[in-house]
Amino acid sequence: MGVIAVCNQKGGVGKSTTVFHLARAAVVAGKKVLVVDLDPQGNLTSVVTKEPLSEDEVSLADALSARTSDRLRDVIVPGVWDGLDVAPTVGTALGLVRDELIQSGPGREHRLREQLAQVTRRYDLILIDCPPALDQLTINGLTAANGVLIVSQSKLWSANGIAHLLATIDGVQRHFNETLGILGVIINLHEAHTVGGRYWNEELHAAGEQRGFRIFDPPVPKRAVIADATEASRGLDEWGGADAAALATIFTDYLKELEGTS
Ligand SMILES: Nc1ncnc2c1ncn2[C@@H]1O[C@H](COP(=O)(O)OP(=O)(O)OP(=O)(O)O)[C@@H](O)[C@H]1O
Ligand SMILES: [Mg+2]
Repeated sequence: MGVIAVCNQKGGVGKSTTVFHLARAAVVAGKKVLVVDLDPQGNLTSVVTKEPLSEDEVSLADALSARTSDRLRDVIVPGVWDGLDVAPTVGTALGLVRDELIQSGPGREHRLREQLAQVTRRYDLILIDCPPALDQLTINGLTAANGVLIVSQSKLWSANGIAHLLATIDGVQRHFNETLGILGVIINLHEAHTVGGRYWNEELHAAGEQRGFRIFDPPVPKRAVIADATEASRGLDEWGGADAAALATIFTDYLKELEGTS
């Protein structure tokens, strides 16, 4: 399956949630997984590390900055489940690295790729949680990945937004990573019972067909248990109840589809 960047420049669509539950599905399937928190907000880190980290701990930022000599393998910490490791983000350091990258010269797009190369062999799957921006961090994520998975909230899909994202992906393919593939779109926070939810779901499928990429089916519904389990650092299969168990299988099935394609 390799290295997957989970992207959308829109905030709050469920990128981090998707990374969390896909990582869970993968460790349950016996895979060795690394999640890379490439978002300066560090939301994913706060739910996915085994031990809480303090703000001044070494982190992904130290591995990406040209000003520090730490390597990625020095900053990786254990995750909440056996089989899971985390390249964490804490404090304000990654925001500073993002600013540093803006002013850096040639090679800045490859920092994450170079660091990941040291550890790729240890993992079956590496999931990169990108920030909600088409910035140098996201470009580093796309340059380091074999495939990009777009997470979209159906009602937030806009022709404009997706065009920007596809143009960025296209630019990365042309300049930095010609083998980057688009793995498809996961529709999250879907509200099947609303007219809007159904309408946008159909629009998305039409757009997917037109542009030739997969829309994962079924979409992930908007359900409090998904947010609750994530906040409690628990997999949906660990949460208890038939509803959570059924939701867990959505991610298990996505993972199987991803295994078939990358
Ligand atoms: N399917 C869902 N059902 C209910 N709540 C959800 C679902 N997916 C995500 N959420 C909640 O929506 C909020 C945003 O999700 P998340 O943080 O994963 O989005 P994001 O795209 O990573 O955001 P950001 O762009 O800020 O990084 C969180 O509070 C999360 O718990
Ligand atoms: Mg996020």
